[in-house]
Amino acid sequence: MDFPRFIEQLKDKNDIVDVVSKYVSLERKGNRFWGKCPFHHDKTPSFAVNVDGQFYHCFGCGASGDVIKFLREMESLDFMEAVELLCKRAGMKLPQHISGKDADEAQKLKKRRDRLYALLKDAAKFYHACLKSKGQKVVEYLHGRGISGSYIVKFGLGYSPDAHSLIDYLAKAGYTGEEMAAAGVAAYRESRPADPLAGRLIIPIITAMGDVVAFGGRDMRGTSPAKYKNTAESEVFTKSRHLFGLNLAKKFRPPDGGRKLIIVEGYMDAIALHQAGFGNAVANMGTSLTRDQAKLIKRYCDDVYICYDGDTAGQAATLRGLDILRQAGLGVKVVSMPADTDPDEYIRKEGVPSFEKLVEQALPLPDFKIRALSKNYNLGSADGKRKYTQKALEVIAAEDNASVREELLKQLRDLTGISYDSLKRDLEGLQKSPPGQLPFPEPAGAPAPMNVKAARFMLCCMLSEEEYATDYDLLERSLAEPAHIKVLGYIKECRREGRRPRKSAVYEISDDEAENLAILECGEAMTEAEKRAYYADCLKFFRLAELEEKLKIVTAEFEREQDNLRRKDLVFRIQEINSEIKKIKRAMIDKNAEKH
Ligand code: UTP
Ligand code: MN
Repeated sequence: MDFPRFIEQLKDKNDIVDVVSKYVSLERKGNRFWGKCPFHHDKTPSFAVNVDGQFYHCFGCGASGDVIKFLREMESLDFMEAVELLCKRAGMKLPQHISGKDADEAQKLKKRRDRLYALLKDAAKFYHACLKSKGQKVVEYLHGRGISGSYIVKFGLGYSPDAHSLIDYLAKAGYTGEEMAAAGVAAYRESRPADPLAGRLIIPIITAMGDVVAFGGRDMRGTSPAKYKNTAESEVFTKSRHLFGLNLAKKFRPPDGGRKLIIVEGYMDAIALHQAGFGNAVANMGTSLTRDQAKLIKRYCDDVYICYDGDTAGQAATLRGLDILRQAGLGVKVVSMPADTDPDEYIRKEGVPSFEKLVEQALPLPDFKIRALSKNYNLGSADGKRKYTQKALEVIAAEDNASVREELLKQLRDLTGISYDSLKRDLEGLQKSPPGQLPFPEPAGAPAPMNVKAARFMLCCMLSEEEYATDYDLLERSLAEPAHIKVLGYIKECRREGRRPRKSAVYEISDDEAENLAILECGEAMTEAEKRAYYADCLKFFRLAELEEKLKIVTAEFEREQDNLRRKDLVFRIQEINSEIKKIKRAMIDKNAEKH
């Protein structure tokens, strides 16, 4: 049996509702079962299991997947381990030799990752031991910065004495140069492997699951132009997907019981905060926050405090990162640090109680933005004040909640001295600005360009085998996203083999969780009639796009053509295409007129 078929049977025999109920108490409402999400701190049941589709989706944190993914996340298993568990559960036998490259690849990949994780863990232990045996100066440096012995151990801090010790150690332990290079702990210098972090204080970067994936290295000699050097990105390390300290912070329970994370910029800030009693601090390692990091955070809490250096917090790039957190559904408050000071320095200078006060006074993100923006303009001049007010009103217009907007307007009034009423009128003017640009009604879902939305919707209809959804070839010609092409490939394969497509198969095909969900939940809130109509719109959209492309090509051909007879022919074709385009456009306009 080939691997995809085996997985299909495995999933048939392990109903997702049964499996999930072992962990979450579920209640049926219509086609879905609802419960409290096991992947984030959920107050209301926002975790839904779709029975027909055999997939789950949390409307709070955005987690989604099939039954295999659920077990992987719940039990921290890798793919094959989850498959084995489900086999046992269903009393199936795991085929001895699963044919098909997917299984082989999955197994190989797992082996390789485990090997690199083991290597990195060994490297971390070695560095840590070196700190004790050879790093007296570094230990003194850490103590001088107020970091105690027990926090050195807690964070597994270490020291790399030189360029070759780690390499020799790992070689003796049986790791190859290729493996060292792949894990990023060796860089080849004149064809010899060397430790790129030689001479540095070592800070291991550890995932929420407890795997060491990289190291940060702080310069100790004061001679390097780079204060910190990090392990290069590798098969197991993508910087933008990790948060330093999360392995510890996720276990921290603050005295008030609230689940919050404090996000700081630097390794040293996170370590200092932990030692000061803020065990919920994580560091985003100096870059702006990414969507992956926001998703990761949302798994562990609903609210975050941003505690950046006084100078960074107000910068445009920083603010964009903070918007990403809000888009992920997190409540965001910003701690105002004095300029030129980072949290580590602040605590050492002013003490913990004073820092606690700063955290208590943190401002909600929009309030903070309004205040931060005001620093970029000269409010003493009429021009500066006008420009600032415009920017601040844009921030306020983006808030959904009317009472929040009112509160912000009052703050803006106090900052500018402009009357509340005139600010309110300007705000209303802003909110009336032109809405969407498309003549199509929109199914719920993440905002995306029309071609992406149309592709998702058509794929969803095909997966559900709607009788009108049969335009496989047109769709195939129109798709651009690799994930979409794969899903359509699966649908066509099912048709060829006379099998019914399964919705949860998208999780076997691609691990782009967000895109999978966007496809599966496309028509969720629509009636059958709306779906049919929207499908027709999508079809028109792709036909139009195709015709317009054709028009461009034929027109170019016409311009190049010398032969009169053939030119006539081309004119005729151009007219034909144009009239087809018009027909489609007219149908769209008529339909919109009907609605109004
Ligand atoms: P900071 O310079 O604020 O780091 O950079 P820090 O932790 O406060 O360092 P100390 O107190 O001087 O020891 C913030 C973060 O940006 C990344 C690191 O993750 C650092 O912790 N960074 C900074 C680099 O990756 N490379 C650099 O050269 C500098
Ligand atoms: Mn610092």
